[in-house]
Order: sequence, then C-alpha cells, then structure tokens
Amino acid sequence: MLRSKLPWPAKSPRFTRQAPLLRNIQTKSESRRPPLGFAFDIDGVLMGGLDPLPKARNALRILDGDNPLKVKIPYILLTNGGGYTEQERAQKLSSRLDVQISPSQVIQAHTILKCYVQEYAEKAILCLGGRGDTMRKVAESYGFRKAYTTIDLLAWNPAIWPFIHAEAEFALAKPIDFSITPISAIFVFHDPRNWGVDVQIMCDIIQSGGILGNPYVDTNTQQTNPIQVIFCNPDLLWKSDFPQPRLGQGAFRESFQAVYKKLTGSEYPYVQFGKPTKPTYEYARRVLHNLLNDIYGVGELPNMYMIGDNPESDIAGANGAGWDSVLVHTGVYNPTSGIPPTHLPTHEAPDVEEAVRWAVEREMSRVDK
Ligand code: G3P
Ligand code: MG
Repeated sequence: MLRSKLPWPAKSPRFTRQAPLLRNIQTKSESRRPPLGFAFDIDGVLMGGLDPLPKARNALRILDGDNPLKVKIPYILLTNGGGYTEQERAQKLSSRLDVQISPSQVIQAHTILKCYVQEYAEKAILCLGGRGDTMRKVAESYGFRKAYTTIDLLAWNPAIWPFIHAEAEFALAKPIDFSITPISAIFVFHDPRNWGVDVQIMCDIIQSGGILGNPYVDTNTQQTNPIQVIFCNPDLLWKSDFPQPRLGQGAFRESFQAVYKKLTGSEYPYVQFGKPTKPTYEYARRVLHNLLNDIYGVGELPNMYMIGDNPESDIAGANGAGWDSVLVHTGVYNPTSGIPPTHLPTHEAPDVEEAVRWAVEREMSRVDK
C-alpha cells in the first residue's frame, strides 16, 4: 500500500452560513462551546439498509439540544459508504432520520478525493463503483472534468467483457475513443456492481500502461511508473439489512490483487482511504473543527467520540486518531459471539442512543468537576 501525498486544502470545505446547524445556534457570545463532538458511522449505527435503526432518531434529537448541557452538540457522519454526492446523501438521511443534516456534515468514503481535483481535473480518470454513471456525476461535482465509468468503456468496446450485456445502460455512456484516451488513474469510489468486468478493466488499463487494448508494458514499468490506483473503502465486511454481514469494497480489492498477482507475479501498489486510515480521520477532524470554529469562533476541538459498529474500521480508526469511541451492538460486531472486539473501544453500548447518553453524561461529570 502506498502512502497518500494529500495536498490538504488550507482549510476543510467551508460551511455555508445557511447550514441549518448554524442558523439555530445562539450567537457566539451567548453559546458555550460544547465539551464534546461526535462522528457517527452510518451502516449498522444509524441505518440498517435503507431504514433508520430504532434508536437513531432519538440519538440525533439529543444532539439537537435535548440534553442536560442544553447546547447543540455538533456532529459529522463518517461512513465508508458512498454512491451519491454529499448533497444527495444529506437530503436522503435528513428525510429518513427527521433531522436537518447539511452536506458539509457528511463524509463519505470518496469525499476525500476532492483533494485530488487539483492534480487530475483535466486528466482522464476511471471512476469505479455504483450504478450506471452515478460515480461520474459525483466525480464531476467534485471538479473532475474527464471522469469515465465502466459503462463508457463497455459501450466503446463490448468485447472488453463478452459475458455482460449492458446495452440497456449504454444510453448513459459518454462516446469516447479510449484507443487515444490514456487513463491516468483509477479511483474506486464505491462498491463495484460487477467485480468481473471491473477487475478485467483494471488489469487491462494497468498492463497496457493506460491505453486500453494496447500491447502490455513490462511488469517492472507497471510498478515503477504506475497508473495511480486509489481504493476509498477497505471494509472486507459491512452490515446491511441482511442477517449476516456482506462483502465490501475491501473484498473487491483482494479479488483484484489476487488476479493481478496471478497475471504478473506481484501485487499492485495502491493508496487506501476510508476508515480506519489516518488521512480519513484527519480529514474528518478538520471538517468538524471548522464546523465548530464557524459556530463558536476559533478554538480547540473538544473531545471527539466515534460511534461505530465495526471494530476494524470505526474503532481502530478512532483509537489511531486518539478519539474516544463507543462500539454499538446493532451492526457488524456480534457481542454474543463471546469473541472480544479486535480493536478495543472506550465503551460498548447496545445502540446509538445509549452510546450518546453515555458520552454526554461522561463529559457532564468532567464539566461539573
Ligand atoms: O459500503 C459501506 C460499508 O462498507 C460501511 O459503511 O457506514 O458502516 O462505514 P459504514
Ligand atoms: Mg458501519
């Protein structure tokens, strides 16, 4: 895995003054800076598939001011999921959870790719994952102007993967001649829908040095002058509304590496983002810190609490960032297994509401000392 050379923006995306969270907050002079902030995982904590988990609305209501501190407690949503713009995701979550969530509070697995627009705005990139051309729309909303998808490649030459008949989706394709369009990078934005075709085209692009269908370049060149490959979500498993956890983007990465190694004898260098990686937690810390500074003026980041269901991503990342964490029992981690979590949280709770209550009371006891 390669280290990410992230060109951090001077300040994380500024929050629009209109953000609902801002509007209802008392003015700076009147309001106390809250002693804590939250980062919520989504799948397995707030949502079970497309539906809110039972205690999700109560938990967010507490943060909206219904708490002994009598302040609005700022929070962000930090998910390894994706597939929409942050605007779309905020709207969906706001309507399902009956709270106002602003796009700036939503950090999806691919949000951090905004940091790569400077370098790749005018270069052809392949955006993998999601349905049809949804990832192109997300990439273009970030500022990538030459963003292509699996459908564009298949529409250009269906022989790339003769086992799929995606003609129905070709209407979504951008007419591009990939024999003269070098692909500079492959960004796996979200969970691929068809692993077979996506593994095929990743290997094709890498082995042909960027021009699909060109003779393969030698493996050493593939490694030393690599096509940039970025995976946004390392989750091997995640919790949807199916009784058992589902394979995630991390499993897709393992499949790609297994095939590429079989073909070339070595693994392919890549950058990994998403929880538990440090860049993603650093990005999240900046977003929440700027939110607070916008509301209360420049000041310290209060004690951070990560509420998650997956020890491998949520808790490991929080531990690595020096945050407190609560592992809830509504998702990937199964407390009845008798197996302790692979990464130890500060606390465990049956659900997100109990997790929030525990954290607020803990900070209350500190404030009162
Ligand atoms: O695809 C999403 C999944 O890997 C986990 O999402 O919200 O639990 O981080 P989340
Ligand atoms: Mg989760």
